[in-house]
Amino acid sequence: MLIPQPVTPQSMPRRTIETAVRPVSVEAAHSNGSVVDAAALFLPVRSGLRQVEGKLRDVDSAIFAPLAEAFVNLIGSGGKRLRPALALLASEFNGSLQGTAQYNRVIALAASVEMLHTATLVHDDVIDGALLRRGAPTLNARWSGGSTVLAGNYLFGMAARFSAETRNMRVIELFSDTLRTIVDGELRQLKDRHNFIQLKENYYHRIFAKTASLFCAATEGAAILSGLPAERVADLRDYGYNFGMAFQIVDDILDFTGDDATLGKPAGSDLRQGTLTLPFFYHLQLHPDVDSVIERLETAQLLADDGDAAAWQQAVAHVVSELRAGDAIEAARNEARTFLRRAEDSLHALPDNAYRHSMHGLCEYVVERTR
Ligand code: IPE
Ligand code: IPE
Ligand code: MG
Ligand code: MG
Repeated sequence: MLIPQPVTPQSMPRRTIETAVRPVSVEAAHSNGSVVDAAALFLPVRSGLRQVEGKLRDVDSAIFAPLAEAFVNLIGSGGKRLRPALALLASEFNGSLQGTAQYNRVIALAASVEMLHTATLVHDDVIDGALLRRGAPTLNARWSGGSTVLAGNYLFGMAARFSAETRNMRVIELFSDTLRTIVDGELRQLKDRHNFIQLKENYYHRIFAKTASLFCAATEGAAILSGLPAERVADLRDYGYNFGMAFQIVDDILDFTGDDATLGKPAGSDLRQGTLTLPFFYHLQLHPDVDSVIERLETAQLLADDGDAAAWQQAVAHVVSELRAGDAIEAARNEARTFLRRAEDSLHALPDNAYRHSMHGLCEYVVERTR
């Protein structure tokens, strides 16, 4: 693996740091020969990520002790940290801010998007009744739903606080708009559950809202803080959009193909809960007798409403095994690849530096990832 030279931001004048950070080639990031290693791609921003980590973990010792304990567990439970890494990478296209006071604002943005992400997961797991997250019991597995929602609200408060630390009104507005959009998306998803004849457009709308919007906030916010002109801010927003759409499509694929142990969260739960995702839309599109699939699910749903939960489980298991045996997964993966190609294309007018290389590499990582 190619290790970049250690960087000491304080000792370097602005605009020289990017020459000191070597790009991580996609080949070098294939640490085990096949799967891209995200950690290698994070290397150019590792010192920023360390600062973000410190900020995220800095719990106010004066708060209610069980809340402090929950906070420490949630933040320390080991997410992939993709959103803060992208914020840090996307802030490196107008000369580096590392080593300047301005960089603290980028760190605050990166911490803000990760904290917002964590809060949405806490609420998402309450809504879904999920008992496993990042390989550990969820907070709602131990606390009541109401208390867990309040803990999630505390995290939203922390995220808002970090966004305010950017001292940038456009970024603060972006943060608030993103939070509103995510809530809108999650509510649309709830409303569309068990509606087997909904439009595919509904799917794109909700995955933008619940997931891609936050990736946009990470990359666009970073572009704004680094003072890029409007066209380049739009490029980085496009990257976040396309990357985020692909990220959620792959998450939805993994829900069909993965297992609890590898994912660290319950697999197979989307269709079981009546949430239709891209592999399911392709399954319908490619199926020779689409009515039979819908009828099977609708009949089982009626039986489940009458108390026969096993009928629903059986119908879902049948559809899932049919779906896995067909071409729906590959069709969805190809669509994720199309979004990722657009993400890569949106980088072409930006400086060709180590950070851009990592953002390219992450596109490959996203479609190959297994968790
Ligand atoms: C999970 O996101 C929620 C989705 C938007 C699919 P991640 O897969 O980034 O979650 P962590 O932070 O790594 O656990
Ligand atoms: C992410 O989508 C939803 C959020 C915005 C939190 P998922 O519901 O697919 O996320 P997982 O699969 O539970 O991580
Ligand atoms: Mg979920
Ligand atoms: Mg999911």
